[in-house]
Amino acid sequence: MKNDFRKVNVFNNFYQTSSFYPMPVVMVTTLNEEGLTNIGSYSLCFPFGIADEHYMMLISRGDSNTSVNIRERKYCALNFIPYRRKLLKNAVRLGYPGEPTRQKLEDSIFTLIPSMREEKEAGVNYPEVISDAIEIFECTWEDDYNKFHFEGSPGESHYLLRINNIFMKSKWYTCLSEGKGFPSMPVDFGYRDSKNFWFAKHSRPFPEPIPSDKGVNIDTIKYAVERLGYDLVWEEAACEKLVKVPRVFLQRVLTGISERAVEKGYKVITPEVMDEFNQKKR
Ligand SMILES: Cc1cc2nc3c(=O)[nH]c(=O)nc-3n(C[C@H](O)[C@H](O)[C@H](O)COP(=O)(O)O)c2cc1C
Repeated sequence: MKNDFRKVNVFNNFYQTSSFYPMPVVMVTTLNEEGLTNIGSYSLCFPFGIADEHYMMLISRGDSNTSVNIRERKYCALNFIPYRRKLLKNAVRLGYPGEPTRQKLEDSIFTLIPSMREEKEAGVNYPEVISDAIEIFECTWEDDYNKFHFEGSPGESHYLLRINNIFMKSKWYTCLSEGKGFPSMPVDFGYRDSKNFWFAKHSRPFPEPIPSDKGVNIDTIKYAVERLGYDLVWEEAACEKLVKVPRVFLQRVLTGISERAVEKGYKVITPEVMDEFNQKKR
């Protein structure tokens, strides 16, 4: 079996035609010109800017309802639905190109509820969101050409979406905060033939410990904070709270905390300060 590989031709839509490519299933809600919330099914939707500036990238046909609505009205919500066959069946129905929003809404089994945005501009309508979702990213299109542009095929459009809020069902919020338990979310398998989309349910996640010789330990954190150059004292218990931060992000996280502490006039980073900053992030 060693070296038993075959060259695959790379066709258009290579993620579907030339590979198996696990992807999320995201129901994108946007507002149409009549103020109705449109629901479109999307899988090409990924984290794009992950530190300091938080963005998703959505790839869509340029003439989809979703594309037109994002270009015209900027706002959208990315609704991550749970693995339920009934919902996935409906996602495939709502993924049929060319249908107007009114017709799609008649076909939809998703329950729409008002946007949960806390900061709303007066007189602006925001797309509704899907109450069946596990989590919802409410976003605004960043249309600054200098921030992002890509001239690919004229038929496809790429939307840099600034994450304004993430809302999550309470049950999963608790799991996220406590680091225990995962929702069952569908995987769109990429591969697609002329008859079917293919979805998979993932099995229960298992833990694989980070090797202790490579992971962040408390000494690594203390060493890193000492070298930051801020006039701050870090309590050991505060450092302990950071042992789960992946090594690659540690420097950035420490700098972020230090800058906020300096701004607030704090001299000592205590566990309480960490909790306060964490609270504000949510
Ligand atoms: C599971 C699933 C994932 C899809 N992912 C994408 C995608 O990432 N990009 C895209 O352009 N179309 C995708 N489609 C097709 C769109 O759903 C289809 O173009 C639909 O018309 C979009 O709806 P809208 O016109 O209301 O935006 C997907 C369809 C399904 C069923």
